[in-house]
Amino acid sequence: MRLVSLCLSTLFAADALASSFARTSVKPKHRSVSKDVAHQRRLAKRDASSLCSATGSIKPKFFIISMFDPEADIWYQDTTLNLYANNVTVPGFSPLFPDAHCTASGEVCQMTTGEGEINAAGSVNALWVSGCFDLTSTYFMIAGISGGNPHVVTTGSVTFAKYAVQVGLQEEFDQSQVPANDTSGYFPQGAYYPDESNPIDYPTSIYGTEVFEVNENLLDRAFYLASLATLNDTEDAAKYRATYGYAPANQPPSVVKCDSATSDQYWSGSVLGYAFSNYTDLMTNGTGLYCGTQQEDNATLESLLRGAILKKLDFSRIIIMRTISDFDRAPPGETEVYHLLYADQEGFEISIQNIYLAGIEIVKDVLMYWNSTYAGGLKPGNYIGDIFDSLPGDIPPNIGTPAYYIN
Ligand SMILES: *[C@@H]1O[C@H](CO)[C@@H](O)[C@H](O)[C@H]1NC(C)=O
Ligand SMILES: *[C@@H]1O[C@H](CO)[C@@H](O)[C@H](O)[C@H]1NC(C)=O
Ligand SMILES: *[C@@H]1O[C@H](CO)[C@@H](O)[C@H](O)[C@H]1NC(C)=O
Ligand SMILES: *[C@@H]1O[C@H](CO)[C@@H](O)[C@H](O)[C@H]1NC(C)=O
Ligand SMILES: *[C@@H]1O[C@H](CO)[C@@H](O)[C@H](O)[C@H]1NC(C)=O
Ligand SMILES: *[C@@H]1O[C@H](CO)[C@@H](O)[C@H](O)[C@H]1NC(C)=O
Ligand SMILES: *[C@@H]1O[C@H](CO)[C@@H](O)[C@H](O)[C@H]1NC(C)=O
Repeated sequence: MRLVSLCLSTLFAADALASSFARTSVKPKHRSVSKDVAHQRRLAKRDASSLCSATGSIKPKFFIISMFDPEADIWYQDTTLNLYANNVTVPGFSPLFPDAHCTASGEVCQMTTGEGEINAAGSVNALWVSGCFDLTSTYFMIAGISGGNPHVVTTGSVTFAKYAVQVGLQEEFDQSQVPANDTSGYFPQGAYYPDESNPIDYPTSIYGTEVFEVNENLLDRAFYLASLATLNDTEDAAKYRATYGYAPANQPPSVVKCDSATSDQYWSGSVLGYAFSNYTDLMTNGTGLYCGTQQEDNATLESLLRGAILKKLDFSRIIIMRTISDFDRAPPGETEVYHLLYADQEGFEISIQNIYLAGIEIVKDVLMYWNSTYAGGLKPGNYIGDIFDSLPGDIPPNIGTPAYYIN
């Protein structure tokens, strides 16, 4: 009897699933599937230039780093800020996004890196190598969307990271070929066990971009400022959220301090969610909390770090803000495949709105309290930099292993 009802309910579930597949005629909007007309426009051929188009030196107080059109467009819509007043063509930027856009005063600028780790690293490196800007006192804010761990955040939430962890930089087996007792196909480089938060699993081969740490005092201020914003939300987003049946996934969006993981691979599902959660724990020596998934931050941070080593910019002035556009795993009772490929999670629009709503509070604060607070900088109370200890500082690293430290 049990078996029969089980079969029937399986059939029923399969049927329901099939009909929902059929109902979905267009791909849902999420990070890798966002229709982008603006891109086509930009593909028009432009003359390559090895020179900055800026006349005179621009010394921005605040630089917004976007990764693709929707994250950038939301800032351009603020015609009071008016980032279109002063366009600067920067040699080495992505051909799709050749210009930095600045306010008339040059105090606030924005760039779009292009998506994925390679675009992010190349474009951000070009930003400081080009010499188009004096970035020595600039605050940088990575301001993008990301997937979210439903046990820590929900769609529309605004997160501020202390750490960025490159979770893709590991060994990987296909799940069908991992040892039977292993929880995922990802193994830290040189380790004999899949991702787990245990010193025996610590990678023995370190490339230097595995984990970055930013200024927690600046993070705290950004967190407070973002908390002043009234975040955007919609009934449709709330409806999908409710299917999780647990908090904070089924709660309205909020501002959260938690960490973000980078991989070119757009991963999804609870197996990799748990594996990368463990890996984040491992690489931050137990102090990081995995909540976000994105494809650029470690690359951006590595490029900023290299500029900081040469004193072209200040690594204590970086904010990593990611809003949550979708969940990294399915709600109970839904398949991971349906969740990623077909479900309309309805988090995309609100996550874009919330980049601006939370971010503008930070921009305004930096401009208003520049002389009293920001010009001199907010002294970090924690180690900042990479896993190699590449930046000399007063505070010893709480990540990495001494055998690899440079300073
Ligand atoms: C800056 O670039 C934008 C987008 O390409 C354009 O709409 C705007 O007119 C430009 N601004 C100036 C001052 O040329
Ligand atoms: C990516 O950056 C995060 C923090 O932003 C850091 O925790 C992580 O180790 C970095 N990973 C790589 C591979 O760079
Ligand atoms: C999986 O099983 C193998 C063989 O028994 C064992 O050597 C290994 O330690 C196990 N892995 C884990 C993660 O428990
Ligand atoms: C959210 O943003 C949308 C699009 O701008 C807007 O129509 C809606 O009124 C906003 N809702 C709230 C609660 O702010
Ligand atoms: C680590 O992975 C295991 C197995 O998937 C999981 O049960 C555990 O919750 C994970 N730990 C964290 C911190 O996510
Ligand atoms: C900040 O300092 C600059 C340079 O000393 C000065 O010109 C400016 O008026 C000051 N701004 C405010 C708001 O006090
Ligand atoms: C971080 O954890 C690893 C693995 O347990 C350990 O070898 C390393 O010394 C730790 N680093 C710090 C700074 O505590």
